[in-house]
Amino acid sequence: MFYEPASGHPLPHNPFKAIVAPRPIGWISTRGAAGDNLAPYSFFNAVSDSPMQVMFASTGAKPDRDGAKDSVAQIRETGVFCCNLVSYDLRDAMNASSAPLAAGEDEFAAAGIDKAECRTIDCPRVAASPAALECRVTEIIALKGQHNTMVLGEVTGVHIDDSFLTDGQFDVTRAQSLSRLGYRDYAAVREVFALSRPGQR
Ligand SMILES: Cc1cc2nc3c(=O)[nH]c(=O)nc-3n(C[C@H](O)[C@H](O)[C@H](O)COP(=O)(O)O)c2cc1C
Repeated sequence: MFYEPASGHPLPHNPFKAIVAPRPIGWISTRGAAGDNLAPYSFFNAVSDSPMQVMFASTGAKPDRDGAKDSVAQIRETGVFCCNLVSYDLRDAMNASSAPLAAGEDEFAAAGIDKAECRTIDCPRVAASPAALECRVTEIIALKGQHNTMVLGEVTGVHIDDSFLTDGQFDVTRAQSLSRLGYRDYAAVREVFALSRPGQR
C-alpha cells in the first residue's frame, strides 16, 4: 500500500509511530515558578556526542499554559531540564507521570516518584532512574504545525547508578531500558548483539 499523509491514512490507526520505532523515552524533569514537573517524551533522542546534545519535541498545548505543555513552559523560564532514563521497573511510574495535570501539580508527588537533586542545574531528577542527563538549553525551535516545539540541550552532567555498570559499561539489559513503539506498545531492551564497523577490530 501507499498513501500520502496530507490526505489522511487508510488504516484504523495512524501507523507513523509504529514505523519510526522504537523511540527512546526522555523522561523530562523540570523546575519552574509553578513547581517541579515530570513527563515522558518519546520524540526524544541524542543528536551529537561532542559535545553531548539531546532533543525532545513537544506536540500540543495545555489550556493553562500559553501554547505549550508544562515541560516546555518551564524550560522557557529556566533554560534547563533533566532527561531521566526509564527502566522496565519504572514503567508504571513513567506512565502515571504522563497524566495531564494542572500547571503547578507535581507529577513526582502525584505518582509517588522519589526526587533527587541535579548537580549542575537547579532541577529535580528521578532518584530511581538508572541514568540521567542534566541539560542546558541550546535552542528552542518552533516546528511546522500548531504547538510543535523542539527543545535542544547540551548535557552538563551525567548520573549513572553504579549498580547498572558491568565491566565499566552501562548495562542496558539490566536496566531493560524502555522505548516507545506505535499504538499502546512499548519495548524493553532484553537482548543485544554487537557488530564491528568495517575497519574496526
Ligand atoms: C511514553 C510516552 C511518550 C510521550 N511522548 C510525547 C512526546 O514525544 N511529545 C509530546 O508532546 N507528548 C508526549 N507524550 C505525552 C505527554 O507525556 C503528556 O502530554 C504529558 O501530560 C505532558 O506533560 P507536561 O505538560 O507536564 O509536560 C508521551 C506520553 C507517553 C506515555
